[in-house]
Amino acid sequence: MSATHATPGDAPRIVVLGSLNMDLVLRVPRAPGAGETLLGRSLATIPGGKGANQAVSCARQGAAVDMIGCVGRDAHGTALREALEADGIDTTGLQVAAADPTGTALIQVEDNGQNRIVIVPGANAQVAVDGDALARRLAGAAFLVTQFETPLEQAAVAIDAARRAGCSVLLNPSPVQPVPEAWWPSIDTLVINEVEAQALAGRAADTPAQAAQAGSALRARGVGRVVVTLGSRGAVAVDAEGARHHPAPVVRAVDTTAAGDTFLGALAVALAQGQGFDAAVALGIRAAALCIQHAGAQPSIPTREAVLHSPAAPAWTLP
Ligand code: RIB
Repeated sequence: MSATHATPGDAPRIVVLGSLNMDLVLRVPRAPGAGETLLGRSLATIPGGKGANQAVSCARQGAAVDMIGCVGRDAHGTALREALEADGIDTTGLQVAAADPTGTALIQVEDNGQNRIVIVPGANAQVAVDGDALARRLAGAAFLVTQFETPLEQAAVAIDAARRAGCSVLLNPSPVQPVPEAWWPSIDTLVINEVEAQALAGRAADTPAQAAQAGSALRARGVGRVVVTLGSRGAVAVDAEGARHHPAPVVRAVDTTAAGDTFLGALAVALAQGQGFDAAVALGIRAAALCIQHAGAQPSIPTREAVLHSPAAPAWTLP
């Protein structure tokens, strides 16, 4: 794979294009049924959004991070910008929408840690990518990281800018939508969960063996390497050498919000530092396992130091 930094220990630069949401998090004993009223346990306002969470994860893993996104001219927008800056993230690429409010995510977290999320994009839908300016920003960066909580047309401009700048693209197509066919050869690293893998590859991806087949099918379209995350069952790494299953450590889940974002940040930074694909996936799993033991999105994202002090698990080669 291209554009990684050869010397482990360098601080690689990563540019994230994506969403910033204020998460309104309701803790509930269980999800209410249709027409049912339930007593919740608590309500909290916590910085989130897939783009911002992934930027924070990259920064806490040791990368120099630029965030490109759009917030509203309101208190949530200010709080989200300040949260990124507290992690040392460059917010000069953050735009402010004239009329739309900052993005919001309504999140229910059950006692077992499972969540349900509804997003109101607000200002995230207004982000406008200047391809030439982004290409200049991407020069020398290890990765452009993007997701699908901001408009696909803007992601297309960004991917083209990355191609022109010689920068690798790490795509997390979540929430899943069809990926334009022309994009696949431009994607160096694809990170998807089992649901997204099924939607994109058109085949079940619930077991490690199925995830390996779905990942291989996506690689056949031109993607460099694929990670299919499987929640408590870890992740499957698929590249030209085949597929390996990396199990996850057994931990008690408090809140799974941002586990995927945490995984992605740790994976991206490890790859950018020149670590091997499997080592990077294993590090991402350890980071995600730490994340889910804490409540909230950005507050639960661990540092590299914390990840290195957490347990590691062996990987299995899949047939
Ligand atoms: O991936 C978790 C994130 O998804 C939450 O922080 C929420 O804002 C939604 O974007």
